[in-house]
Amino acid sequence: MPIENLMEKLVSLCKRRGFIFQSSEIYGGINSCWDYGPLGVELKRNIKQDWWRRMVHLRPDIEGIDASILMHPDVWRSSGHVESFTDPLVDCKNCKQRFKADEIDGDKCPVCGGELTPVRQFNLMFKTFMGPVEEEASVVYLRPETAQGIYVNFLNVLNPSRQKLPFGIAQIGKAFRNEITPSNFIFRTREFEQMEMQYFVKPQEDEEWLEYWKEKRMSWYISLGIKKENLRFHPHTPEELPHYARKAYDIQYHFPFGWKELEGIHDRTDYDLSRHSEYSGKRLSYYDEGTKNHYIPYIVETSAGVNRTLLTILVDAYDEEPERVVLRLHPRVAPIKAAIFPLVKRDGMPEKARKIEELLRPHFNIFYDESGAIGRRYRRQDEAGTPFGITVDSQTMEDDTVTLRERDSMGQVRVKADDLITEIKRRIEA
Ligand code: GAP
Repeated sequence: MPIENLMEKLVSLCKRRGFIFQSSEIYGGINSCWDYGPLGVELKRNIKQDWWRRMVHLRPDIEGIDASILMHPDVWRSSGHVESFTDPLVDCKNCKQRFKADEIDGDKCPVCGGELTPVRQFNLMFKTFMGPVEEEASVVYLRPETAQGIYVNFLNVLNPSRQKLPFGIAQIGKAFRNEITPSNFIFRTREFEQMEMQYFVKPQEDEEWLEYWKEKRMSWYISLGIKKENLRFHPHTPEELPHYARKAYDIQYHFPFGWKELEGIHDRTDYDLSRHSEYSGKRLSYYDEGTKNHYIPYIVETSAGVNRTLLTILVDAYDEEPERVVLRLHPRVAPIKAAIFPLVKRDGMPEKARKIEELLRPHFNIFYDESGAIGRRYRRQDEAGTPFGITVDSQTMEDDTVTLRERDSMGQVRVKADDLITEIKRRIEA
């Protein structure tokens, strides 16, 4: 059963529990900018860490980098972004609102019915000025994708790492787009983070690797506990293809506002490395020891959004039961792994609970709570997505066991306090 007004409820939960706040709220907020609070920042870090572990640490064929956000402006001329990274835009002559032309039915303003301007192409890149002088020569762009930082460093990474094709370079970082219609909470914003990986392959092997990465990336979302029935592939039609891609798939998620892109997987051919070779005069090629040939590799890209993954995880995890709201977050990404509760504030229970907290804190992000009825304390953690609750009760004082409560089933087992680290680790990895 779909949950009614899910987005409104989620936005409110995010604020209440300290996941996400409107940026600059005390000044009335700024459209499409969001701040991540104590729980939000943990969830975001866990998503990025999991991606990095699986895409870099567990793979001998992928290297990581962290490139600068500001790059030489010629990067964006070579990449085609100055010319082609545009959205068709129309303005309402009456109420002055702006719309993406391809999201409008008919030729009247959807808000006031006013007359619309003719369509014009609007470049999505943010411009700023480098140095103290504001003139055309000092214009730089905030990167609209992290990928270009990888292409321009192709040789810098290839040479010291001594990788052979096929191999990849991965990066996580901020990107900026002056979106015409940012919308749906953190789904489409003007500042966001990407987790991108560029896989360099032999020219005739691009199709095969596109299929490989499609499946790999889909399985990552499923491994994070996202329900399979809410995920699907969407092959790009020729009209939808970005300017750099020959073939592309989106992984889409079934959001309350429709099926929407979560990640893009693109066959970028030799487009990027060829263009950078041409414009910079430095040949970004690969020497194939097998064939004794120099050639420009093809690129298969996997491009995911951190914030969009986070929203997907929250939407998919949100659940309502008669007695409680529960975020069924996968323990791997949950901001707090376990909460510790002394049943009552006496008989040595708080002291014992604090000792257990000390034992666990070096291993997990832990929350200690001794105030209020135990049921309410459980509910608060259910809403925060904390997968495990540890309660110290009178039996703990006798035999050093605690109850370990599991968030989703609310089932409880007794565990020796000394075994908690192993037990929680086992359950997180299960
Ligand atoms: N390098 C290729 C590239 O940037 P994209 O399909 O434009 O491809 C990739 O973007 C991913 O980045 C999207 O699937 C989405 O997760 C995220 N993303 C793009 N624009 C976004 C925005 N305005 N707000 C939040 N996330 C965005």
